Amino acid sequence: MTKRKILVTSALPYANGSIHLGHLVEYIQTDIWVRFQNMQGNTCHYVCADDTHGTPIMLRAEKEGITPEQLIARVWQEHYDDFAAFHVKFDNYGSTNSSETREFAQGIYRKLKAENLIEVRSIEQFYDPVKNMFLPDRFIKGECPKCHAKDQYGDNCEACGAAYAPTDLINPFSAVSGAKPELRNSDHYFFKLSDPRCQQFLRQWTRSDTLQTEASNKMQEWLGAEGENKLSDWDISRDAPYFGFKIPGTENKYFYVWLDAPVGYMGSFKQLCNRTQDSGNGIQEKLNFDDYWKQDSDAELYHFIGKDILYFHALFWPAMLQHAGYRTPTKLFAHGFLTVNGEKMSKSRGTFITARSYVEHIKNTEYLRYYYAAKLNGTMEDLDLSLDDFVAKVNSDLIGKYINIASRCAGFITKRFDGKLDKEIGIPTQLIGILQEPAAQIAEMYETRNYSRAMRAIGELLNHVNFFIDTHKPWELAKDPSQTQSLHSICSEALRAFRILTIYLKPVLPQLARNVEVFLNTGDLSWEDAQTFLPSEHKINDYKHLMTRLDPKLIEAMVAANQESLQPQPQAHSEQRHAAHQQQEAKKVVTEAEKDTGAFISIDDFMKVDLRVAKIVNAEHVEGAEKLLKLTLDIGEAQPRTVFAGIKSAYDPEKLKGRMTVMVANLAPRKMKFGMSEGMVLAASGEAPGLFILSPDDGAQPGMRIK
Ligand code: MSP
Ligand code: ZN
Repeated sequence: MTKRKILVTSALPYANGSIHLGHLVEYIQTDIWVRFQNMQGNTCHYVCADDTHGTPIMLRAEKEGITPEQLIARVWQEHYDDFAAFHVKFDNYGSTNSSETREFAQGIYRKLKAENLIEVRSIEQFYDPVKNMFLPDRFIKGECPKCHAKDQYGDNCEACGAAYAPTDLINPFSAVSGAKPELRNSDHYFFKLSDPRCQQFLRQWTRSDTLQTEASNKMQEWLGAEGENKLSDWDISRDAPYFGFKIPGTENKYFYVWLDAPVGYMGSFKQLCNRTQDSGNGIQEKLNFDDYWKQDSDAELYHFIGKDILYFHALFWPAMLQHAGYRTPTKLFAHGFLTVNGEKMSKSRGTFITARSYVEHIKNTEYLRYYYAAKLNGTMEDLDLSLDDFVAKVNSDLIGKYINIASRCAGFITKRFDGKLDKEIGIPTQLIGILQEPAAQIAEMYETRNYSRAMRAIGELLNHVNFFIDTHKPWELAKDPSQTQSLHSICSEALRAFRILTIYLKPVLPQLARNVEVFLNTGDLSWEDAQTFLPSEHKINDYKHLMTRLDPKLIEAMVAANQESLQPQPQAHSEQRHAAHQQQEAKKVVTEAEKDTGAFISIDDFMKVDLRVAKIVNAEHVEGAEKLLKLTLDIGEAQPRTVFAGIKSAYDPEKLKGRMTVMVANLAPRKMKFGMSEGMVLAASGEAPGLFILSPDDGAQPGMRIK
């Protein structure tokens, strides 16, 4: 069989948010496929990167008082660690903000320009006169023109669902500065998708076997009937200030983030090629970029993506590649969205669960890999994580049927037979034959990403093996000295079976499989190894617990923690009382004033409260404190202030660093268990979940008085 050369990508996660269980559907799905391909002996490379450009990242960095480069470096590390925790194994994890991606992006642009596929046009757009920038739709808010709901985004209304242009909003304002936006003209660069060459190419590209049926139907809809020209040109430029790559030959125009995002696939792969070439030790095969990306490449290229970004991958991306002289993707593998307990992930229900939170509470990430595998079917249907079903499946299938094979039989081999399997007769037994027979079918299920079918097929094999063990009852044979030989052969057979089942599950459970390889003393198992079995008197190692049951309490705690972090602070704990006390102190000012003027306070009373803009220069956990974070606040004084704030449940200290907030600066210092607290930060909370510290608008400096 000839070995395939395959390059696989997952979508590049945005560098302005944490990885959550929804993202993981994609990365786990891809990782399983890549591991499967490599087990087949194919050469399969898996690259990904952070998607780092655009206005939201620029503004967030500004808000945190750091550079975009600092922000994306921090998030990169966080994403990298999260993926590693879930055994998602990239050959290279890059960033779109790399010299490699820049060069490819600029090169593609130049070629498109030379092909006469770039056009400059002046367009009218909202401009923020305070912030001096053009505003993306999402940064313009106002009243919905249809239902008059207030505070709606510039592209669609969350109250009534209407879609419109930002210019349709009533009383629009900039979400960045609050200013009333002005309409201004600016030159924009367009990729001419309406050009007949693009239309023609895309029609032919979608007719070929590149898309799932559902995706192909969507494409027909987007492209319209033959002769109909439904595609409009694509605006690929943004005006400064923008965090991204400058468009060659312009002074202040940048590539729109979606232009360079998919180019990040190439950039990341190029980094991988550079690395293999640098090693130069002859052991690692040198990877050649062109082998995978030139127009007549014989390598396969697959992009795993969510259904929400199909448009970018099925239209813009192949058109860019084609007309810039590169190969186009072999196939797009689009998947659906994750729901939890049948509903959209929700912060108030505690089901918006980050990768980090999962690891903190559940630890074992292979439970989730198994569950997703049991659900994924290779279509664009949404997929539900039912938390009860999750516990049930892990405990009944993974532990009850699979792990239990080894845990019920291994001990006898080590204790009674010196760790050696029996002498086998050289031909597979009936049971082993049953397990070996469907290897090719199961492989086909992995190949077509129908992992749920593969898990069901493996489940049937597990039933056979468990039936075998239950019938022969090794625990009873062990009590009867005349049955020693039977005991030996039953347990040996069960472990031979366990090895084959482990091979079938290895793409899904890589860490567990690794531990089994050590326990069974087999070395690295490939797919082909399912056709052999452990030889006569094969020596195994001591059985160590491979996996524990999933305790439903852990799930409850995880959901509660994700919910709790958004709820107003309970006031029960001793450290917390301080925060409560501080709040009362603040209230006292009001109470005294009320004595004088009834419900109102005088301006003089208000002026007694010294409110200052503070920069959080440091934020850290306090050992032993459940609710508090220790904040170091710069309010323009010679020495920064230390404040203990009861906001631990709502904020990650790392994310607070560099942020601006508001503090009460003339609150009497107070000695606490953990040190002196020299003020109070203000936070909003109410009936609805959530605790929110305040931020001044851009431009406010540490120490400015708030009045
Ligand atoms: N940055 C873009 C992709 C650029 S690719 C050149 C992006 N990033 S993302 O962080 O929003 O999403 C990354 C991937 O995760 C996307 O494929 C997206 O569909 C997927 N998912 C994000 N949330 C998801 C769910 N709730 N469920 C399943 N997949 C989800 O899009
Ligand atoms: Zn509306």
